[in-house]
Amino acid sequence: DQKSVWVGTNWKMNKGPGEAIAAADALASFKLPEGVRAFVTPPLTSLKDVASILQDSPVMVGAQTMYWEDSGAWTGEVSAPMIAECGASCVLLGHSERRQNFGETDWTVNRKVQAALRHGLRPLICIGDLLDEYEAGVSQETLARQTKIALNGLSREDLRQVVVIYEPVWAIGSSGRPADPPFVSEIHTKLRSVVEEIAGHDGSIRIPLLYGGSVSRANIRDYVALSDVDGVLIGRAGWDPEDFMSLIASVG
Ligand code: G3H
Repeated sequence: DQKSVWVGTNWKMNKGPGEAIAAADALASFKLPEGVRAFVTPPLTSLKDVASILQDSPVMVGAQTMYWEDSGAWTGEVSAPMIAECGASCVLLGHSERRQNFGETDWTVNRKVQAALRHGLRPLICIGDLLDEYEAGVSQETLARQTKIALNGLSREDLRQVVVIYEPVWAIGSSGRPADPPFVSEIHTKLRSVVEEIAGHDGSIRIPLLYGGSVSRANIRDYVALSDVDGVLIGRAGWDPEDFMSLIASVG
């Protein structure tokens, strides 16, 4: 994975099955530039259809969340084996919208990471600092804590599967502003040392570190150019499949 650039788009709670299938059809014929790894996370209502349309495509398909138990009386939840059976290969865990609105904590994210790994799903772990934390200058402490807890108890084999995505909460969505690349660079360099503390400094495991939060055509290359940034997670700017493909092409 040393030289890969990851580009993902999270559709969030957008696109019903009809629209999602049309978007997947548009992505299916896309040829990824060499060295780019792309993923898309549709809503659960279209996960199986999107995964089946993209099964022969290099674009990976993931869920946006899941529960850590495999089955049982957990009304409304879906489990890792269910997601895997739908054809997904990855799952976003700990997105700030889940942490803020649906009560996810560092420790529940850790349980979900372990459950995903048990079922062969690649965990795409989101971490992020709140505006208050950013303004108080404690972003690094928050991100180190979230990362260490998310990765707690993982084997070396597990660590090879995970991706960590830094999404400043103050940079996400239409009320957010993109983080300055020099700030992202500083944060990612610190995050690199946090993950190396866990996975070893010998370079045999390089955990991809992605940035997300108001990534657009105007700034994507600035983030991807940073040495400790291995790619981006895009929300709004990637929802249209043509836009997503052109964003990928712009870094490929
Ligand atoms: O999951 C994606 C992120 O939350 C970023 O969303 O690009 O619309 O700010 P955004």
